Amino acid sequence: MVKWILVAAARPNFMKIAPLLRAIKTYNRLNGHRLIPYLVHTGQHYDYNMSEAFFGDLGIPKPDTHLGVGSGTHAEQSAKVMIAFEKVLVREKPALVIVVGDVNSTMACALTAVKLHIPVAHVEAGLRSFDRTMPEEINRIVTDCVSEYLFTPSPDGDKNLLREGISEDKTYLVGDIMVDSLLDSLEKAKNRPTLEKLGLVAGCNGGSADRKTGVRSYALLTLHRPANVDNGDRLSRILNGITRIAERIPVLFPVHPRTQKQVRLFGLENAFVFHQTPALELSDYEEGGVLKKKIHCFEPFGYLDFLNLMAHAKVILTDSGGIQQETTVMNIPCVTLRDTTERPLTISQGTNVLVNDDEQKIVSEVSKALNGVRRKSMCPAIWDGHTAERIVTILAGKQEE
Ligand code: UD1
Repeated sequence: MVKWILVAAARPNFMKIAPLLRAIKTYNRLNGHRLIPYLVHTGQHYDYNMSEAFFGDLGIPKPDTHLGVGSGTHAEQSAKVMIAFEKVLVREKPALVIVVGDVNSTMACALTAVKLHIPVAHVEAGLRSFDRTMPEEINRIVTDCVSEYLFTPSPDGDKNLLREGISEDKTYLVGDIMVDSLLDSLEKAKNRPTLEKLGLVAGCNGGSADRKTGVRSYALLTLHRPANVDNGDRLSRILNGITRIAERIPVLFPVHPRTQKQVRLFGLENAFVFHQTPALELSDYEEGGVLKKKIHCFEPFGYLDFLNLMAHAKVILTDSGGIQQETTVMNIPCVTLRDTTERPLTISQGTNVLVNDDEQKIVSEVSKALNGVRRKSMCPAIWDGHTAERIVTILAGKQEE
């Protein structure tokens, strides 16, 4: 019996943890029961629709331990995670700790484990934006530096690790674990009545829609990076671009809690229509039933509803990391509101383009997408939905050595 602790903390972690838990189960079934997964939720994200909703959508069991750390400054949050996680490690004595992604809890748990001489596996290792003002970049560098097993999603990750002096023997190119969840959930997500509930399908609240699909056209926006939303000037520039887009096509905007706070702080509420209920209302439509060309704001959606909305969007504007990958796999135009990306394959092979906070670029790249000007894109070969299986097989083999 070998116990592995898996750490989940924030929204972008949950779709990376779910396939690992599934792969461990499968491994045990095929090889005799030997691996015991022990799930720790640090509580970095705690709102229902930033956390619990994802557990339900992804079929993740209740965590074995919830650290309940909540929000705070970087130091406060990381320190609280370390203090609480150390107690769990001392009590549970795992053979391995698996961390995913690049959030504060990823780094904090990796550091805590390695100081207790417990080996750490980092899933989604090697990504670099080369922008050290991003908290995630520091988390990536520190986590990779102390990890024993580094699982990269793409060859650029291997090169980055090598350049930083990390031995090739520790690095494994396994593909993108987010794609495991995406491919596993896409059909289920598409079958949900998300669009109907929002009134985005012809027949709901009346109105015209695409003749073939019956779906009304819309762009989808996500925005939460501190660099974008904590700086009023930058946020205003981005919103100017998006407001111009909303003159052409309705923009649906599930608003991250950080962004909700900042929009209020900078007094920018007038740029949006806020929806208290998850559904659009009759007042959101012009006469004749066409959805008003405005920025329509919602509370964050769960995983499956958001996948559904992505799958039917004409274009996605985002500053998220994961959405750049998901849109590449789904072959949907992605306009990224950043000046760097730690996921260069989404540009060289996928549908992604960087526009930073440049109003003109935002408008012109979205216009290209709306006018059907598409770059040739292809899904990287190794993003095939089997990343978690590869990781579990490698780790189980290593533990036997
Ligand atoms: C964190 C990650 C980021 C990831 C993002 C996804 C770090 C450094 N950042 O950023 O990489 O892309 O999650 O969402 O780890 N809040 C709530 N409810 C919640 C969670 C947060 O209201 O459930 C609010 C709090 O006011 C908090 C703020 O959002 O202060 C920011 O949360 P935090 O976890 O610090 O960072 P994120 O911006 O979510």
